[in-house]
Amino acid sequence: MNANEKYIFLQINQLGIMKDLFERIIENKGPLGKWASQAEGYFVFPKLEGPISNRMKFQGKEVITWSINDYLGLANLPEIKKVDAEAAAEHGAAYPMGARMMSGHTEYHEQLEQELAAFVQKESAYLLNFGYQGMVSAIDALVSKDDIIVYDVDSHACIIDGVRLHMGKRFTFKHNDIESLEKNLERAKKMAEQTGGGILVISEGVFGMRGEQGKLKEIVALKKKYNFRLFVDDAHGFGTLGKTGAGAGEEQGVQDDIDVYFATFAKSMAGIGAFLAADKQIIDYLKYNLRSQMFAKSLPMIYVKGALKRLDMLRTMPELKAKLWENVNALQNGLKERGFDIGTTTSCVTPVYLNGSIPEAMALVKDLRENYGIFCSIVVYPVIPKGLILLRLIPTSTHTMADIEETLVAFSAIRERLENGTYKRLSAAVAAAMGE
Ligand SMILES: Cc1ncc(COP(=O)(O)O)c(C=O)c1O
Repeated sequence: MNANEKYIFLQINQLGIMKDLFERIIENKGPLGKWASQAEGYFVFPKLEGPISNRMKFQGKEVITWSINDYLGLANLPEIKKVDAEAAAEHGAAYPMGARMMSGHTEYHEQLEQELAAFVQKESAYLLNFGYQGMVSAIDALVSKDDIIVYDVDSHACIIDGVRLHMGKRFTFKHNDIESLEKNLERAKKMAEQTGGGILVISEGVFGMRGEQGKLKEIVALKKKYNFRLFVDDAHGFGTLGKTGAGAGEEQGVQDDIDVYFATFAKSMAGIGAFLAADKQIIDYLKYNLRSQMFAKSLPMIYVKGALKRLDMLRTMPELKAKLWENVNALQNGLKERGFDIGTTTSCVTPVYLNGSIPEAMALVKDLRENYGIFCSIVVYPVIPKGLILLRLIPTSTHTMADIEETLVAFSAIRERLENGTYKRLSAAVAAAMGE
């Protein structure tokens, strides 16, 4: 074989083993994507219509909505919508243009940061355009390759993705398991002593699927021994927990010991955006090193002015949080009295665990929506272990006792049908088609 033939042979051979990049994507749609043909438009990507409230429309029918994180019922309040509309009329959707560092900075951004910092009892705060990106970027900015991250294995995807950017060592600890945390802190400490780096522990104020608060008090108790800094994602705790609504740290009496606090506006604030809060020195560092903000356009004024109004309501209307908790307690107690397994939630997030396959879960949720007018999120494998169905209910201050009573009656009915095999029969064809 001469050199030319050899070259052609190698090319053909390579063509033989090489794949088109999209081949895998088209063949393997991923653990959730494989359900798309059965689920899309109904179980996933559903279209809820009408004003955001306790009752909305799904496919033309009224449903009680238990899947919206509008904890304090702010999303549809006329006074909030007025501020949003006035900001839109004055500034449009674009202002200010550019990144904060370059041209996208305003006095309102600063004012919001000062008010947020005061609300969560920290010296300083910095705005993020989106919680997800902000969290990824904050983890990236806080650690160097010599530092070690220790984080809860059940962390939100934004924490997992932030840790992925880390060039140094990372350890997970078993979910909310302090013994496991301590074991990993021992390892982290030894390693940090070699690298000359520090340790960042990351937990959540509230774990959004199961509703458990992160064991912040117990984590903080280990700080002296292991000399770490604590970063808390309090997306679900902000506005809903603690005496003043400052979140899980305030609820557990350890707000001061959270070194970096994160919350999003996407839940109790019913908006878009997020923030970090910490000592001034740390926020000053983040302002100059947080890539998601340095290289992205500033949060538009609609969201900034809108957030100022929402924060004002969080501060001045404690009755919203009180009503939320009245509903949370009525729902959670009602479920427990009826023998439902709601796990170990210590927040508003209300999980209901049932046993069944994915096709059974689909039949059950369809029954709930079509025959009982109840709309809640359904969580299945791979988010939770195989064979478990998690119906996740998010109570808000807009729900009524009638909504709760109707829901409890419906849940008792669907549990009976799940247990007597009705959903198994109804979903047999889907199960066979999907090889389940
Ligand atoms: C725990 C947690 N962290 C971060 C985020 C991301 O926040 P955002 O929606 O503002 O991107 C969410 C979801 O909203 C969340 O539940």
